[in-house]
Amino acid sequence: MRPLETLAPSADSLAALAALEAVIDEISPIAAKHRAGLKGDIRRLWEDLTSDRESRSADYLSSPPALSAYLRYFLPWNVYRLSAILSNADFCLPDNAVVVDIGSGPLTTVIALWAARPELRDVPLTIYCLDRVERVMETGKAIFETLCLRLDGRIPPWRIELHKDSFGETLPERAHLLTAANVFNEFFWKDHRNLGERALATARTLLSYIRENGSVFIMEPGDPRSGAFVSSLRAALLAEGAPPLGPCPHALSCPMPGIFRHLLPPEETRTVKGDPNVAPSRFILPPVTMPKKRDKFPWCHFGIDSSKAPTWLQALSEEAGLPKEKASLSYLWAARGGLVRPPVGIPSPNHSSERERRARAGRGILVRVVSEPFALPDGSSGQYACSSLGYTLLKRQRGDSPFDSGNLLEVTASPLARFDDKSGAIVLPT
Ligand SMILES: C[S@@+](CC[C@H](N)C(=O)[O-])C[C@H]1O[C@@H](n2cnc3c(N)ncnc32)[C@H](O)[C@@H]1O
Repeated sequence: MRPLETLAPSADSLAALAALEAVIDEISPIAAKHRAGLKGDIRRLWEDLTSDRESRSADYLSSPPALSAYLRYFLPWNVYRLSAILSNADFCLPDNAVVVDIGSGPLTTVIALWAARPELRDVPLTIYCLDRVERVMETGKAIFETLCLRLDGRIPPWRIELHKDSFGETLPERAHLLTAANVFNEFFWKDHRNLGERALATARTLLSYIRENGSVFIMEPGDPRSGAFVSSLRAALLAEGAPPLGPCPHALSCPMPGIFRHLLPPEETRTVKGDPNVAPSRFILPPVTMPKKRDKFPWCHFGIDSSKAPTWLQALSEEAGLPKEKASLSYLWAARGGLVRPPVGIPSPNHSSERERRARAGRGILVRVVSEPFALPDGSSGQYACSSLGYTLLKRQRGDSPFDSGNLLEVTASPLARFDDKSGAIVLPT
């Protein structure tokens, strides 16, 4: 079965990543006496960024060792992750489209957009980059322009404006596409209101940045907390009129929400505080098959094969004691309008694609593979997945080649009558 969509960086993205090391060294050289300390700087920043720290200073990227470590390790791995999604996503931007990037850091998303979508290199765009730290954006812009000149001999007609500001501050224009990569895990959890309330507030702020037909693309690390954040944000955006387009193959409840349960406590969904006219159903999504009851549900995330990363990046990661087999991530596309042509079945006349029409015509069910393959007790092979049925176990004959995490499939077989004993998943033979 051939996937309708995969998560893997394109050849263009890999070419950009291969060239990135020399470009970073040119723009932000590292003195020989500091080179030996780089692996320790990377390790320290990794420990800091992957802990649930509340104490990290807001401008941690303004210290030279942290900036150098970020540019050489986090920037390229994030370009790798982002381009795995952007290379294959079903979206387009018209001439003069406006993009807003929140928490740009060294313009990682701009670099990934250029690397993954060569057709956009001729499209005039305005890109507003917003970050609390100006210097890291300036360095990223120089890296971006040098990379473009090295690989393409020209800078694209993209007007890039850097705004030193925080999420929530207004920008001159509303966006066709809003992007935010690896930023919400920096501050979302500092707010101690309940998860659903925070997700609704975040969704409303995000939507205030986009146009009527704009879309939102969020990528976060593939850890449990970020998975719960993404699931809560998905529910909140849906409640606010921006249904998910990806990775979700449906707009029902999320069967892999981690610790997220509901947007509003059940008793408050009858009359939403301050707005008695809001229909409660907006906050309660139609149920799907959930995994077996447990404290925390699985969280939606993907492991991207990292073997295609450039050798310089793999070597540096090894040196820092952070070898990577998989680059993990959680992500979400959601849209209020028609710019993104969705690969999924959203019941809206504005959102129709060939895949969606086929799926809706009853020829198959759209399934997003989430896990790696594992052996089932009867000798066949299983992989967890998401579908409009809910938490799904794809069952394959022993010896059939496995799917990759992130593959989007159209499965025509019917589900088995029995749920999987261990996980509670609905079982779908492929
Ligand atoms: C981990 S970096 C991510 C940078 C880049 N998007 C990437 O994926 O590599 C997080 C960035 O978000 C910025 N940031 C954190 N909180 C922010 C806020 N409330 N408003 C704007 N930027 C913020 C930080 O300064 C930092 O540059």
